[in-house]
Amino acid sequence: MAIRLIVAAFAMVALVSSLAYASDPSPLQDFCVAVNDSKASVFVNGKICKNPNMVTADDFFFSGLNKPGNTSNALGSRVTPVTVNQLFGLNTLGISLARIDFAPYGLNPPHTHPRATEIIVVVEGTLYVGFVTSNPADPNMKNKLFTKTLYPGDVFVFPEGLIHFQFNVGKSNAVAFAGLSSQNPGVITIASAVFGSKPPISADVLTRAFQVDKNVIKYLQGQFWGDNNY
Ligand SMILES: *[C@@H]1O[C@H](CO)[C@@H](O)[C@H](O)[C@H]1NC(C)=O
Ligand SMILES: *[C@@H]1O[C@H](CO)[C@@H](O)[C@H](O)[C@H]1NC(C)=O
Repeated sequence: MAIRLIVAAFAMVALVSSLAYASDPSPLQDFCVAVNDSKASVFVNGKICKNPNMVTADDFFFSGLNKPGNTSNALGSRVTPVTVNQLFGLNTLGISLARIDFAPYGLNPPHTHPRATEIIVVVEGTLYVGFVTSNPADPNMKNKLFTKTLYPGDVFVFPEGLIHFQFNVGKSNAVAFAGLSSQNPGVITIASAVFGSKPPISADVLTRAFQVDKNVIKYLQGQFWGDNNY
C-alpha cells in the first residue's frame, strides 16, 4: 500500500513537472517594462521594472520594421532585432522578433540562439534553410541536417540552441520575419566565435579540433569576421 502511494506520488510529481516544463515561464506580474539604466541595482531578468504608474503605450511599441536592413556586408544579410534591448516592454515576457534581409545569394550564416526557439515566415524571395541536431545518445540522430527551401508564406522552425542558417538562393532580395521564444535570445555565430574570438583561441587547439594543417587555422583566424546583426 505504502509503496503504491509512493509510486503514485512520483507519477504525480513527474506529470506536474513535465507540464511545468511544457509552458512558458511566468512573468510574475502583468508586465515589467525595463528601465534603461545599467546602474540600477534590483534586477528581474537583467532589468529593473519601470514604475507601473509611469508606463505608457509607447513602452510596448517599436516602429521601423518596414525598413529593409542594410545588407552591404560580406554576408549579404542583415538582422534587425526587436528584443528587450530595443523594446523595453518585452521584459519578462519570453518573446522577441527580428526582421532578416538578404541580398541576392546573401547568407545568415550558421549560428545558434542559446536561449530561444526561432520560427520564421518568408515574405519575399526564396530561402534555403536548415538546422543540425546535437550529439544525442542515438547515433542515428547525431548531427543530422534538416533542410527546406522556403517561398513567400512558408514557415519553418529552428529548435532552441541548434545550429541553423538561412541562404537566399534567388536572384532577388529576400525578407523574412522571425519570432523568438526569449526576450533576449542571444546569438552565437559559429565562424566568428571560433575563428574571430578576441584574443584568438590557440591555433594548437583549433588545429587539433578541426584536424587540418595549422596554416589553414592561421588563414581562417586572419579573416575579418564581420557581423550581420547588432
Ligand atoms: C550600408 O552599409 C554600407 C557599409 O557599411 C555603407 O557604406 C552604406 O552607406 C550603408 N547604406 C545605407 C543606405 O545606410
Ligand atoms: C538606452 O540607453 C543607452 C545609453 O544611454 C542609449 O545609448 C540607448 O539608445 C538607450 N536605448 C533605448 C532603446 O532608448
